[in-house]
Amino acid sequence: MRWIRNRVFINMKTPKWVNVGGRWTKATPEPVQSEKTVSPKSTKNEVDGILQSLVLSKADLEEISDLMRQNMDRGLNRATNPSAVVKMFPSFVRSLPDGTEKGDFFALDLGGSNFRVLRVQLLDGDVQMTSKVYKISQGTMTGTGEQLFDYIADSLAEFKNEQGLSDVDLPLGFTFSFPCKQNGLASAELVQWTKGFSASGVEGKDVVVLLKEACARKKVALQIVALVNDTVGTLMSCAYSCSDTYIGLILGTGTNACYLEKLSNVDTWTGDDGEPRDVIINMEWGAFGTDKSLDKFRTKFDNEVDEVTLNKGKQLYEKMISGMYLGEIVRLILVKLATDGDLFGGQVSSDLKTPWKFETRFLTDIESDTSDNNAECNTILKSLGVTPSPSDLPVIRRVCAAVSTRAARLSVAGLSAVVKKIGAAELTIAVDGSLYKKHPTFKSNMEKTLKELVPGVTVKLMLSEDGSGKGAALVAAVAARLGS
Ligand code: BGC
Repeated sequence: MRWIRNRVFINMKTPKWVNVGGRWTKATPEPVQSEKTVSPKSTKNEVDGILQSLVLSKADLEEISDLMRQNMDRGLNRATNPSAVVKMFPSFVRSLPDGTEKGDFFALDLGGSNFRVLRVQLLDGDVQMTSKVYKISQGTMTGTGEQLFDYIADSLAEFKNEQGLSDVDLPLGFTFSFPCKQNGLASAELVQWTKGFSASGVEGKDVVVLLKEACARKKVALQIVALVNDTVGTLMSCAYSCSDTYIGLILGTGTNACYLEKLSNVDTWTGDDGEPRDVIINMEWGAFGTDKSLDKFRTKFDNEVDEVTLNKGKQLYEKMISGMYLGEIVRLILVKLATDGDLFGGQVSSDLKTPWKFETRFLTDIESDTSDNNAECNTILKSLGVTPSPSDLPVIRRVCAAVSTRAARLSVAGLSAVVKKIGAAELTIAVDGSLYKKHPTFKSNMEKTLKELVPGVTVKLMLSEDGSGKGAALVAAVAARLGS
């Protein structure tokens, strides 16, 4: 069997596998047609073929889970770490909160186009937060590092001023959600930008030093005690109230996970060997697949998305799962179907042709739309300059569902590797991120897949709202409690 233009299956000798969307997959037992009798349009075959290429079976997920485990071991091992793709950075956070932490802290939270400054007050297990969001423009994300850090320092100054705390110098935790090699709790070198950031002169530098320099330029007092990844903040924040939380997960603009590991398993550890004998590992799992190990599961649409990103060839697992990319995958599929005459009467509007125009929140809204007349779906498509016919609507919904379901199942393939490594019979995973919070079926798809992949373990997914900012303050508080 082979795949030809017009996406018609042509009978060859063994009608078992087809290449759909660039990925080899088992053909559904559709009627086989001869080339002569084929019409140029074969909607059912094309739609089914593309959707099928996005399906990951239990066996696929188990293979991905095993691969993730191999990557984790390579990242933790000193000899293989330099060439490892999943870097497994020790966070230098050694202890989870025990609920007794107290104090008044500032926190900064940078990880996407919204930057937040927070004041976090911890008292007897209670957390009070005041925060302000500052928009990071595209220009600031892709300008110079100095501009970016000056903007952060200015925002901190404004926030302190508005809170009447201009002269108060509280300990500060900085959530910086990009891959960093930590050299201590308050020392972290940015390895590479992700999620559309490219500010110059930051990669390879200690971002704590860059922040201190900006604050010195702007004459803002700063007492930075910890830099944490958002996954670590999320884990810390949930662990404050739920003691069996061992994994932190982000499913937002980007994706990543962290977990509590025994120091004896961390061959790359360079800190002291005293108590406590655990450390949180920031996995940076978004980079999984950069060595092509996921290629057989990726489709032509995944390749096309990668082509238009600033970090081409990198973060390939992240590009199949996270909010920054899912809308773009759907857009590319819709364009393909429309171009081949299978959607929108063959019309493709210029908006639909524009990269990144189909946002991931549209996926969430389309899949959430349960109205009989598909009002939301119609409104979204019309805003993109196309008018779906009644028969287009179910196709669009199926495309969105296939892309989001694949993402949810893939994230669990990674999680199952971590759950198995931890080896507990019961545990809680702290989760944050817009995809998890807002998508109608992401969480339930994850739960179903967890039952498939780790049936013997009771795993609870717990929303860790606002975890990343709050968590940075908790890291600062735990450091204060332990006197480090
Ligand atoms: C970054 C991670 C971060 C994740 C979620 C990824 O792009 O590399 O550090 O945790 O996004 O924000």
